[in-house]
Amino acid sequence: MNLFKLISTFIITIFSVSAVTVAQVPLYTYPADDGTKSYYVTGGNEVKIFVEEKGDPTKTTIIFSSGFTTSSKSWNPQWFDPEIYENFHIVRYDYRGIGNSDKPNTNMIPNSIVLNDEKFNRYLGDPNSNPYSYDLKATDLFAIINKLSSDYDFKNKKIVLVGWSIGTPISLNFMKNYPDIKIDGFISVAGFVNNTREISDKTFTLFQKIMDPENLNNIASGLDEFIKLFSFKPFSYELYSFFMGTSIMAPFEYRISVAVQVSFTEFYSNLTIPTLHIIGEKDSLVNMEHSLYFASLGQNSESIIYKDIGHCPLWENIKEFNKDIINFVSKI
Ligand SMILES: *[C@@H]1O[C@H](CO)[C@@H](O)[C@H](O)[C@H]1NC(C)=O
Ligand SMILES: *[C@@H]1O[C@H](CO)[C@@H](O)[C@H](O)[C@H]1NC(C)=O
Repeated sequence: MNLFKLISTFIITIFSVSAVTVAQVPLYTYPADDGTKSYYVTGGNEVKIFVEEKGDPTKTTIIFSSGFTTSSKSWNPQWFDPEIYENFHIVRYDYRGIGNSDKPNTNMIPNSIVLNDEKFNRYLGDPNSNPYSYDLKATDLFAIINKLSSDYDFKNKKIVLVGWSIGTPISLNFMKNYPDIKIDGFISVAGFVNNTREISDKTFTLFQKIMDPENLNNIASGLDEFIKLFSFKPFSYELYSFFMGTSIMAPFEYRISVAVQVSFTEFYSNLTIPTLHIIGEKDSLVNMEHSLYFASLGQNSESIIYKDIGHCPLWENIKEFNKDIINFVSKI
């Protein structure tokens, strides 16, 4: 064996290994026992919703709503930051169908899914047959706030909602359905105000696979492609698995609920509370054109665009993200 060849192979190996390691978004792990209080509340249709609370209940309450197929644990980088939990009261929860929350099903699984088919749209639009409607999710959020207001003095309480991705229309729909609950600020994290816009063929195919009623190969491959679109720099294998593990547990009825078409354009244009848009410049699930359109509708809004960040700023740039959340909420 030629010594030069051996050494050069060695060098190339080192370079390629280190290049891969440096460029990933890692999974940070956190202590198990950190003073988090957890319990269930009864949401819409008697569904049990898993809630966690931490921090100082006399301070402003921040309620975090996560992304599609992700659990409340996706907020770990914020949950374990002392700058956040020492200065605020923080609350996170698992959507119905996700994590520790109940996973209602309808036993009405159709044999095939035809998007935009009349029967399908009727099913999605009817909160009585679709246990994952936006309105039921608004009721769940109401049940959480109702519980908090019975435990703490909410007379002078400030509440800020934070929604990542689909957590944005879910939070907006809550504000729309419960106008008597005073919300003092809102943060959209890579959020969207409507999903009636055109999506790319690639994204369409991926969602079609995710909505497969039972073929696990299709579902897993769709979720795999979906999660790989979360970040600009790739996730580490551990972080990828963290998201994949939660998403694969979501039932069929939850997975197809993403096809419900919503637009909060008019509602958001009327909203006067302070809002912040955190936008990833390289987001490939909610593109820049939509993010700028959404931000432009705000009456009292500011936007921060993160360079070289994708759809997951809460993990991709924890330091900046947490700082921007703290700054915004402190001003309210
Ligand atoms: C927005 O405000 C306009 C004008 O006040 C009102 O007519 C409309 O119903 C409001 N829309 C929503 C969705 O709140
Ligand atoms: C949805 O968003 C797009 C921008 O991405 C905008 O052009 C369109 O008017 C919006 N449609 C509705 C119904 O809100």
